[in-house]
Amino acid sequence: MGKDVIIACDFDSCEQTLSFLDKLEEHKPYVKIGMELYYAEGPAIVKTLKERGHKVFLDLKLHDIPNTVKKAMKVLSNLDIDMCNLHAAGTCKMMEAALEGLTREDGTRPLLIAVTQLTSTTQERMEADILIEEPMEKVVGHYAYNAMISGLDGVVCSPLEADKVHNACGSEFLTVTPGVRFADDDKGDQARVTTPAKAKELGSDYIVVGRSITGAKDPKAAYERCVAEFVG
Ligand code: C5P
Repeated sequence: MGKDVIIACDFDSCEQTLSFLDKLEEHKPYVKIGMELYYAEGPAIVKTLKERGHKVFLDLKLHDIPNTVKKAMKVLSNLDIDMCNLHAAGTCKMMEAALEGLTREDGTRPLLIAVTQLTSTTQERMEADILIEEPMEKVVGHYAYNAMISGLDGVVCSPLEADKVHNACGSEFLTVTPGVRFADDDKGDQARVTTPAKAKELGSDYIVVGRSITGAKDPKAAYERCVAEFVG
């Protein structure tokens, strides 16, 4: 699987997204549609971006009872997305149900990956707020293992955990890693962050970059810098 940079298009309208992507027209980057944009524009935004030639990761992070997630995934399977996700915290049963719902009648399906612990979560907040007292790396490794035995294709984790996940689940198991910043950028609300170059060194398969590109003075230059550092 080739390494790639996925841009988090955290905009609240199709218009803003397209005017941003116009600046990157020559690259046709892999894009991530999150809750903000999807809830504002609905499935039409997926169709628009696919028609413009982008690969699409639909980041809706499903987490509900297995039956509900299965039915929701069945609906998403009708969209021409390349990747989607859910929370591993929903249990193996939920992940297996999701996979069943996402698989089309002809056996094809988008990639399905699981969020382990959000990259904004610190060890301290995980212990205090959700009463998980194991070390972050162990929690991420365990959730990744659950995703793997449930048949998923990979996980969303911090780049700092990518090598641990590959050690536990094999090199083919995908690590999609947000929380990526240039060394001179602001961390924002993220906690477990690193640079594109370090993410490459740690073995991430895809980096997800939002504000370091979308908020840059020159987004095209920022995207090209990410690709140069991460893909080489
Ligand atoms: O702007 P920034 O680079 O922090 O954007 C990161 C993107 O990745 C956001 O869209 C966020 O929702 C998403 N994400 C994340 N951590 C996860 C899963 C997804 O930051 N564990």
